[in-house]
Amino acid sequence: MKIKCLGCDKVLVIPDNRLPRDKAIAFPCPTCSKVIRIDLRTSAAGQKPTLQTQTEKVYPTGEALKAQILKTVDELPPMPQTVIKAREIMEDPKAGFQELSALFEADQAIAAKILKLANSSYYGIKGGVSSIQKASVVLGQKTLRELVTLGGVSGLIGNQLVGYGLDAGDLWMHSLAVAFGARFIAEKIDASLASDAFTSGLLHDCGKLILDSYIAERWQQFEDAMADGETSFLDAERKVLALDHPEIASDVCKAWQIPKSISRAIRHHHHPSRSQKSKLAYIVHAADAIALMSGIGIGIDGTRYQMEEGTMTILALNDEDMGAVMGHMLSAAKKIVEE
Ligand SMILES: [Fe+2]
Ligand SMILES: [Fe+2]
Repeated sequence: MKIKCLGCDKVLVIPDNRLPRDKAIAFPCPTCSKVIRIDLRTSAAGQKPTLQTQTEKVYPTGEALKAQILKTVDELPPMPQTVIKAREIMEDPKAGFQELSALFEADQAIAAKILKLANSSYYGIKGGVSSIQKASVVLGQKTLRELVTLGGVSGLIGNQLVGYGLDAGDLWMHSLAVAFGARFIAEKIDASLASDAFTSGLLHDCGKLILDSYIAERWQQFEDAMADGETSFLDAERKVLALDHPEIASDVCKAWQIPKSISRAIRHHHHPSRSQKSKLAYIVHAADAIALMSGIGIGIDGTRYQMEEGTMTILALNDEDMGAVMGHMLSAAKKIVEE
């Protein structure tokens, strides 16, 4: 039997033997998700079955929804190959600059992005940075590594996120602030974590890129879930979507070939105590909370954000340190985004 969905005009061919006789059935259209209802009860009398498509969408829930969301990860723009390769090369202490330079020669678009960042007032040095080689010599390998990561990510997280109530550029600003804040904290307590803290901070909310459209179309369900005035947005994500943005972030990290230690920190950035004592998770959590306290990139989910108890003690931070982190993240992020 051929059934045309009245919602999207998609023609579905269903073998007759799979249709129950003398029954009214309903199922969601696989293309537009609207409910298709067919009354097969009249077919026995030789009349055509009646067909209806309901206007409201059926939203999958639970495991079905989770499976659908996980598929969306493949649709994300990929991390540029040059950036992945460059990060690998810079990981190797024996690697020379030549290999790196050949890589950027072949990808001028990324090289230009990196140079633009190198010349921002945060990194910028007198006389300007005109080549990747100069950036490496003047700013050092460590900073170049940071610039490469920034260059790779800048095009991926700049868009507006309607579901989260973030304007274009808000998530980028928030991510920059958390990256610089996390690095600042790491330098104070364990300098060996500084570079990973930066990357973790930069990418910590990347799961939001995936969940945003699902939240936007289920807005009413989110409002209902949070109507008690106590449920956090993160809990509402879990309630409505069966997963939350830190969980989906692990899949995004895998797609972007981000190392496991970083994706673990991102996975637990709201609840570092569940991370099996990952210092990196505590660092990102603290930087995230401080960024939200100072109002950077505060969307709908930022208003009920709580710093987990014990975070300050574990990181040996006091109120004065917090003020310093706040000041540093604000000024660094601003300097990066201003033209
Ligand atoms: Fe988050
Ligand atoms: Fe965040």
